Amino acid sequence: MTRIVTVLLLVGFILGVRGGEARKGKVTESFAYTGISCRRHTASITDFGGVGDGKTSNTKAFQDAVNHLSKYASDGGAQLYVPAGKWLTGSFSLTSHFTLYLQKHALLLASQDMKEWPVLKPLPSYGRGRDAAGGRFTSLIYGTNLSDVIVTGANGTIDGQGSFWWQKFHKGRLKYTRPYLIEFMYSDTIQISNLTLLNSPSWNVHPVYSR
Ligand SMILES: *[C@@H]1O[C@H](CO)[C@@H](O)[C@H](O)[C@H]1NC(C)=O
Ligand SMILES: *[C@@H]1O[C@H](CO)[C@@H](O)[C@H](O)[C@H]1NC(C)=O
Ligand SMILES: *[C@@H]1O[C@H](CO)[C@@H](O)[C@H](O)[C@H]1NC(C)=O
Repeated sequence: MTRIVTVLLLVGFILGVRGGEARKGKVTESFAYTGISCRRHTASITDFGGVGDGKTSNTKAFQDAVNHLSKYASDGGAQLYVPAGKWLTGSFSLTSHFTLYLQKHALLLASQDMKEWPVLKPLPSYGRGRDAAGGRFTSLIYGTNLSDVIVTGANGTIDGQGSFWWQKFHKGRLKYTRPYLIEFMYSDTIQISNLTLLNSPSWNVHPVYSR
């Protein structure tokens, strides 16, 4: 199944947590969020050995980039820039005070190598996975216990190459629950905007235990 979802501003409106903006359970207001240009540090995936040829795995490049940029969380935050190209990758995790920016014609292509998808425990509130009793594959773009994260771009695309997963799912061949394109757990102040999400293995965006 092919699903195209252009996400404009999705995961709850930004809940202000600074400068006395905190609201009590109401998600009715919105305000201009300057997050796109607010990061003091910027790096490109190519600085970490990324290769946008659609064949080379960039999982390590993404994770190295995020790990490196996480050092700037308390120093103005950081942005990881993904230029035009086809960036094959497995699951990777984001950090706080961080922007992932996909340039126009930047395509994140989800890896079909299951070794690139670490398995997490089932969600505590479910007690089991949705597709199988055990754990669940980590989502392509994943974050837990984070604050102030932006996933955006100039209409860059995240393609989950989901038919690989849907076929296994329909044949009952999955040992673990399929990954999502984007998942945040125990996080707050998340913006997902100006991207095209395609061919998810399952759901597109899954915020859980998050505000
Ligand atoms: C994330 O937050 C949850 C809920 O507060 C907590 O139970 C869990 O231990 C935290 N995990 C990490 C990796 O900090
Ligand atoms: C974004 O990309 C999608 C898929 O290529 C396209 O259908 C859509 O028209 C684009 N939207 C904008 C605003 O450029
Ligand atoms: C996101 O897309 C909207 C509608 O096309 C546009 O008005 C806005 O400037 C874009 N934001 C960014 C950060 O590119």
